[in-house]
Amino acid sequence: MGISGRVALITGASRGLGKAMTLAMAPAGVKLALTGRDMEALSDVAGQARQLGAEAEVFRCDIANEAQVRQLEKDVLAKFGPADILINNAGINIRKLCVDYTLDEWNSIIQTNLTSVFLMCRSFIPHMLGRGYGRIINIASIMGHISFPQRTPYSASKAGLIGFTKSLALELAQENITVVAISPGPFATEMTVPIMNDPEKNEQFMSRTPQRRWGDPRDIGKLALYLCSDDASFITGTDILIDGGWCAQ
Ligand code: NAI
Repeated sequence: MGISGRVALITGASRGLGKAMTLAMAPAGVKLALTGRDMEALSDVAGQARQLGAEAEVFRCDIANEAQVRQLEKDVLAKFGPADILINNAGINIRKLCVDYTLDEWNSIIQTNLTSVFLMCRSFIPHMLGRGYGRIINIASIMGHISFPQRTPYSASKAGLIGFTKSLALELAQENITVVAISPGPFATEMTVPIMNDPEKNEQFMSRTPQRRWGDPRDIGKLALYLCSDDASFITGTDILIDGGWCAQ
């Protein structure tokens, strides 16, 4: 696939979609820089990646914190050299009515889901330049395209991330660095447990998913792996929906 030996930095790799992408990359011989805040879970994922044949290291970082992202840049560079692949996956959601959010809650969602991607790109892109290959994958959401009540900051952050992806792709097109967003529909992870565990909310989601099922996180892993391959070198500045048909309606 042309990615063996590449260095991939994945945020929020301790669980959910980040873990699935990590375990999809591992057998392809990618060197994995895994970042997150839960070091125990992260180390466990790194161990699983090593068992699949990958070199993997963990780095503690709150990606919403500018100083910690600068430190991460130094640490990853010292351990692996420049990152070839940057997967901005970490994200949060707090579900409530617009009028009920505190400013701190609003800021934490925008900071984690959108501003952190700017911070990561600002740190890691300079090391990617002039090397003839680069991949940046931003995990957005169908909520950046359509929406639901109780999602104002989340939808705003994800729609913003899709716009960010397009502009950045234009800046980096001549460098053969592709920038692509993936917009998942409903995937069974810790983030969506509150919906899956509530029969009414679960039915609300399933009734809007033409395939009537939750997505398997491993499918996001396979898509990310493909986007990092040489075969996907002409895919840039776009957003790929993987949603069981939700947004087709
Ligand atoms: P999750 O909650 O299971 O995992 C999120 C990961 O991000 C965790 O490892 C968490 O520790 C990490 N994280 C959160 N804030 C962080 C911070 N400030 N610094 C470092 N790490 C941080 O969520 P899931 O489902 O795996 O989501 C991954 C991405 O996919 C998110 O961006 C989410 O918005 C997006 N997404 C998920 C969908 C789903 O159905 N699961 C649907 C659409 C989008």
